[in-house]
Parts: sequence; C-alpha cells; structure tokens
Amino acid sequence: MENKTFEIQPIFSSFLIQKKLNLDTKSIKNWIEKSSHTDYKIPLTFDEDILKDFYLSLKEILDNLHLALGFSKNTKQQFQEAWVNVDSNERTSLPHTHPASDFICVYYPYVEQGSGNLEFINPNSAIEYIFPQSRENTIIDTHNLFNSKIWQVVPENNLLVIFPSWLHHYVRQGNSNTTRMSIALNSKIVSK
Ligand SMILES: [Fe+2]
Repeated sequence: MENKTFEIQPIFSSFLIQKKLNLDTKSIKNWIEKSSHTDYKIPLTFDEDILKDFYLSLKEILDNLHLALGFSKNTKQQFQEAWVNVDSNERTSLPHTHPASDFICVYYPYVEQGSGNLEFINPNSAIEYIFPQSRENTIIDTHNLFNSKIWQVVPENNLLVIFPSWLHHYVRQGNSNTTRMSIALNSKIVSK
C-alpha cells in the first residue's frame, strides 16, 4: 500500500526573528527618559555609549541572519538609520513598509502590559478572499503560515524583532497611558 504521508514545503517565504537579548534595559530606559523631554522620536547616531552592547549584539545577529538567508559572503548588512520611539499607545501607525531598506529591526527596552502588538500583513493580498476568515464564515481551524492574513508579535522587555522591509506592518492600538519604548533600526545589504 502506498504511503500517504507527505511534507508541506513552504515556498517564497518571508521571515521573522524574535530573540530575547540580555541587555541592561533599566539603564537604557533611564537614558531614554532623560533624552525624551520634548520629543517622542529620538534619532540615533550609532555612537551612543549606552547602546554599545545593543549595536554589537544586533550586528552579530544580522551577520548570522545574512548568511543564513544565503547571501553572498562578499556582502554584509549595514546599519542605515535608527531612532527611539516613546509612545503612550494613543497613536497607531498605518500599515507601511520601509522601501529604502532591506531589513527592519525593532527592540523593546521597556514596554508595559497592554502595549499594542506589532502586526504584519501577509504579502499575498488575495489570501483573505481565498481563505475567508470572518467570524461568520471561516474555513480555518488552526492559523498557520499557509493561511494567516496577519501575524502578531507581542512586545516584551528585551525582545528583538527582525523582518524584511517589504512586509507591511503597523502597531495595533494598545491600552492608553501604557508606556511603550522601542528602538527601530533599518539595515541595508552593501558590498564588503
Ligand atoms: Fe515601520
């Protein structure tokens, strides 16, 4: 009798890295609080002493990811721009991409319970018509990478998230008056 088992092979995949770092979040939070009296978006220059370990860890992870994705050893990831966001969860962002970059990194030095999730939209825009997911009319029992319209990341202290710049993403509205501090960093593939 023929063996009826099979494996499903994902093709043309996006990627998502979620990795807890081991950084001194308390000091980073204090530094952000001191720097953000007037502005809720603080541009970074990559030479902040307090973020030295963050930059070093991120660089190592990006180098490994770059190779794991099969890119040439003659190329590397280069930091492009970075900034700190301090939010009280009252603003939300519209779905957007970062087309001038290749990878997007988000790190949470401090988030309070109830902060808005980071959400990604499936680049296959037809998926909601193919697999209807409204409450009254769903054919899906278990959400997975083959049938999901959105993918959620719950922010946590010390969590680093990396994803490709072409994925539409946004921050879902959280509980108001909960503080949400994040560092966003764009990186680009350049020649060595
Ligand atoms: Fe973004």
